[in-house]
Amino acid sequence: MRLGRPGHVLISLLALLFGAVASNGLIVEPGIAASPETTRIKSSEEFVARKGEAIDPKTHPGRQLFLEHCAMCHNGGVPKAPSVIWLEMMAPDAILSAMRGGVMTRQASHLTPPQQDLVAEYLTRTRLSDYHPPAPPKSCAASAAAFTGPAPAKLSWGHDNRRFFPADVGGLTAKDIPQLKLKWAFAFPNAVRARSQPVIGWNTIFVGSHDGTVYAFDLDSGCAKWTFRASAEVRTAIVADPDTKRLYFGDVLGRAYAIDAMTGQLFWRTKVDDHPNATITGSPSLGGGNLFVPVSSLEVTSAADPAYHCCTFRGAVAALDPMTGEIKWKTYVIPDAPTEHGRTTAGALILGPSGAPVWTSPTYDAARHRIYIGTGENYSSPADGNSDAVIALDAATGQRVWQTQFTPNDAWNVGCMMGNENCPTENGPDVDLSASPLLVPLPEGRDIIVIGQKSGMTYGIEPASGKIIWSQRLGHGGTQGGVHFGMSVEGTTVYVPIVDMADTHDGRAYDAALNGSGIHAVDAATGKILWRHRNPNICGKRPNCDPGVSAATTAIPGAVLAGHLDGWFRVYDKDKGKLIWSYDTTQAVQTITGVTTHGGAMSGPGPAVYQGHLVFNSGYGMYYHMPGNVLLVFGK
Ligand code: HEC
Repeated sequence: MRLGRPGHVLISLLALLFGAVASNGLIVEPGIAASPETTRIKSSEEFVARKGEAIDPKTHPGRQLFLEHCAMCHNGGVPKAPSVIWLEMMAPDAILSAMRGGVMTRQASHLTPPQQDLVAEYLTRTRLSDYHPPAPPKSCAASAAAFTGPAPAKLSWGHDNRRFFPADVGGLTAKDIPQLKLKWAFAFPNAVRARSQPVIGWNTIFVGSHDGTVYAFDLDSGCAKWTFRASAEVRTAIVADPDTKRLYFGDVLGRAYAIDAMTGQLFWRTKVDDHPNATITGSPSLGGGNLFVPVSSLEVTSAADPAYHCCTFRGAVAALDPMTGEIKWKTYVIPDAPTEHGRTTAGALILGPSGAPVWTSPTYDAARHRIYIGTGENYSSPADGNSDAVIALDAATGQRVWQTQFTPNDAWNVGCMMGNENCPTENGPDVDLSASPLLVPLPEGRDIIVIGQKSGMTYGIEPASGKIIWSQRLGHGGTQGGVHFGMSVEGTTVYVPIVDMADTHDGRAYDAALNGSGIHAVDAATGKILWRHRNPNICGKRPNCDPGVSAATTAIPGAVLAGHLDGWFRVYDKDKGKLIWSYDTTQAVQTITGVTTHGGAMSGPGPAVYQGHLVFNSGYGMYYHMPGNVLLVFGK
């Protein structure tokens, strides 16, 4: 097989997409080198994040109980029942609540409470004696608990994917940045990653977390006004609607939520897709009276098992009624359900076309009443025209208006890394469109859509037709390359973050001259490169460190803000790309609860800005990136 180092590739692939996974303790603990050469995706083991001493799932008594009482539904074959890979990512107490009074009460009724404990330990590889359910952080006194101050602006993911905060909202311009001081920090409990983008309004920071807790923190003091617990990790942005004072987000089990921003009370929750592997990673977005929720999946990893019938997931986007959570329409990226295209010699069915997950937060175009989404690769053969594409959908009906495919014949799954026959004949290149399309108004009155791809390419396309107007290569690209989570723009200056792993581990020739790891500024109208700042590699021998920028960037007047995979948060000036500020998020920091913690790699979400404050998460203990669990709040 062409891939010599499966562990790494896996990471990469997922990294880009899903951003996630895990660290089985040994991978994530800084100072302990991972050994990718010997890592195999035998199971979803690699996706489990945990702290404390790991248990051996092969010999743990919970295993037999799970196989007898749970596995028949959670092996990926039953609609709605989350695949075991997702159960393994849940917090132990969330699994126990599902069995004790929650949705699995009946299914777990044959088990005694101690047996239920064993099942939760087995699934999470965490000893319950080592696990401390999240205690609410310091509660606010009445005066701090009030929701005063300007409401959240309709900016960034959920409202405006350009991710620009003007001075009257953010209170920060390039010249203010060097004066920023750390005001307070919070350590997310039981977490090795922090992937939910915060939103700020009413002097409150709203943010989700690894164990599913959503927090409302007082901006000044860091006390908690309320907390809400979702079943599983919240890795989308928290999207605030200032008009209704509601918050929207998704969890990794494929549920969208609406809660009250003032109290944390649940209004509704809706399972948006019944596929056992469905998940919500792209932030929901509001527009034209709808909440648009993108659906992606990790079925790409199921194909690591040669006996798995690959694949049946199809990417989708649904429009929900923001008041009730009712699904008004849902459009699959691949219109028809997969059909059989033969069998592997292992006897597994080849089912396709499949895949084309939607990782992007949909971009709403009010003038044309459309949304634009980006799609990922196909999972199985035959590849079709819906992968690695931008698709324009009518916002009212979900009907397709146009689509533009950027890389044809891209079918790929983890079977390719494992060298098994589930690998589609196309075998990659796995170059999703995972960053939201930017809708940019140009001075002469027309609009342009700017696209970034994992291939290292960026494009300008016409909103009316999807026609490509310009293209520009900014990086090498690859499984772990190119544009990942989000570009930003001030005026017509587009900031494009690039991560180009020096060794992409995808078996393809790597041309170092194309390495673009860092930040690039291009002109939205022409694609002309305005400047490029390739980030020097300061990682040395530090494990799980990379100079690239995978996280979404945020723009403020005169500067771009970017969390890097090497653990540094850096700010560059708009005109020349000069570095104007940097902060090492991996340093030890004393948090408001008294605990000392640190950040790690930054990927996924980008920073939030509000009234002179800069707020972001750091830590990404998955896919061999540096773990961490910190929320950092800076002020002038
Ligand atoms: C008969 C099929 C079936 C069996 C047996 C079963 N489950 Fe489930 N499980 C489901 C379905 C379906 C869902 C999704 C329910 C929903 O979303 O409303 C689910 C959801 C879950 C969830 C997610 C809960 C949440 O908060 O979203 C957990 C955890 C879980 N099951 C654990 C278990 C465990 C542990 C066992 C064994 C004791 C088990 N299940 C047995 C079908 C099953």
